[in-house]
Amino acid sequence: MSWRERSPAIDLAAQLAAEPNRRLRGKSIPPVRPAAPVPPERPLGWLAALKALRQNPITAFPEGAYEARTLEIGRSGRRLLLVNDPAAIQHILVDNATNYRKSVQQRRLLQPALGDGLLTAEGEAWRSARRIAAPLFSPRAIGALFDDMSSAANAMTDRWRTRGDTSTPLDLVAEFQRLTYEIVSRTVFSGALDEDRIRVHAHMAIYFETLGRLDLAGLLNLPPWLPTPARLRARPALQAFRSVVDRVVGEREQESDREIVDLLDRLMAAPDPTNGRSLPPEAVSDNVLTFLAAGHETTGNALAWTLYLLALFPEAAERAREEVRSVFKGGSVTRSDLDRLVFTRAVINETLRLYPPAPFMGREALGPDRAGEREIPAGAQIVISPWIVHRHRGLWPQPDSFCPERFLLPGAELFPRGSFIPFGLGPRICIGQGFAVQEILTVLATILPGFRFTLADAPSVFPQARITLQPRQALAMRVEPY
Ligand code: HEM
Repeated sequence: MSWRERSPAIDLAAQLAAEPNRRLRGKSIPPVRPAAPVPPERPLGWLAALKALRQNPITAFPEGAYEARTLEIGRSGRRLLLVNDPAAIQHILVDNATNYRKSVQQRRLLQPALGDGLLTAEGEAWRSARRIAAPLFSPRAIGALFDDMSSAANAMTDRWRTRGDTSTPLDLVAEFQRLTYEIVSRTVFSGALDEDRIRVHAHMAIYFETLGRLDLAGLLNLPPWLPTPARLRARPALQAFRSVVDRVVGEREQESDREIVDLLDRLMAAPDPTNGRSLPPEAVSDNVLTFLAAGHETTGNALAWTLYLLALFPEAAERAREEVRSVFKGGSVTRSDLDRLVFTRAVINETLRLYPPAPFMGREALGPDRAGEREIPAGAQIVISPWIVHRHRGLWPQPDSFCPERFLLPGAELFPRGSFIPFGLGPRICIGQGFAVQEILTVLATILPGFRFTLADAPSVFPQARITLQPRQALAMRVEPY
């Protein structure tokens, strides 16, 4: 049986594509194409490909990459493999996850900043940190963070209402990143980093902007300690945010009879339930940085892209706004009713499909393997790209169009595991998934009924992949109270 025949998503795709006018639920798919590169028909030459990979990796992949099940990238002896087949993705990330570790590229990009934090650690260091952090990310614990999320969102709307000139556009990327940083610092670290918020946030942004590009030294296999120009430029920023975090950890150490309340307390005091050991001090700082970094930019970008898409598609914006109004009836947003925002949730899923905030994941095969129909040699570097898988021509009908209804269709839940992967899959799946979804829903429910959002310069919006996917320049939008 062929790949195309096997996948329920493809059955659904075929079913939808066969309908007259390619209608989803009786509604024509809007002709507007949300901003995205048009893939070149043929593979780029190696110099052009290298340039594209460095400037904006999502522009480097030819049309064939969006049609293939797997694709070999370049001609390096080290075998770089793009994997799109959902069954192979499920195999690599879930079924045989122990045969893989984070790829060389990901380690080189993230480890200098995040050390052995949860995102970059392997083996026992990863297992310990995950077990220690997990209770704070249970559905119940996340529910308890709702009030903090909601009051941070309300403080933002108060600021929007009281600013003098509401016709001047705001940069929604900056607005939402500030908000999500505040939320993660307040909820996960009880505000311990609030005082230095602007400094830490600014230095982190400089660091990831400087080092978040494809690492040419890595591609050329140069040793990781080599002081490349980018590393030298990023070093002061790295030292600045590390020193703040080390100081905050030191201060917390002095509070001897503190109860265990937040993630920092748990990281410092709670022993791993399986071996009774606490994390070493460097691992505590690494994890503070990891949760700050992984926990705000992704969610901030997801919010910015949602507002961009709703501004492009006013009908969907009106439907989401009406849904929020009818669920909360003009009163305050409550945790228990967030689940009733069914259409708004579909809008979020469609946004995460079109603009996955983490556009690339990387793995290295420790031993030889077979994933789907593909042999994988030991040492192969695997790229799994939510950006490409989510726009795959064989998996999604109208892959580049915005159509939240696809997540409401009967059978939508049949999309095979491995075809919709904004949060990854398997043991390394995003620990903050529930946190992020609750945060995005809370913010949308707070802002949609009271404000009109219009794009100030729609043609300038274009996705730019670094470690996360964000609008290339600011996302300038007019935000006007109704
Ligand atoms: C829309 C928002 C978010 C997206 C799209 C996202 C995406 C991802 C993805 C794709 C991974 C897996 C990477 C891999 O397998 O290589 C991941 C891991 C992780 N995420 Fe998120 N994330 C989001 C929000 C958050 C939040 C809010 C937090 C924390 C408060 C967080 C903390 C982490 C951590 C610590 C890991 C590493 C987990 C591990 O390896 O065990 N993320 N995230």
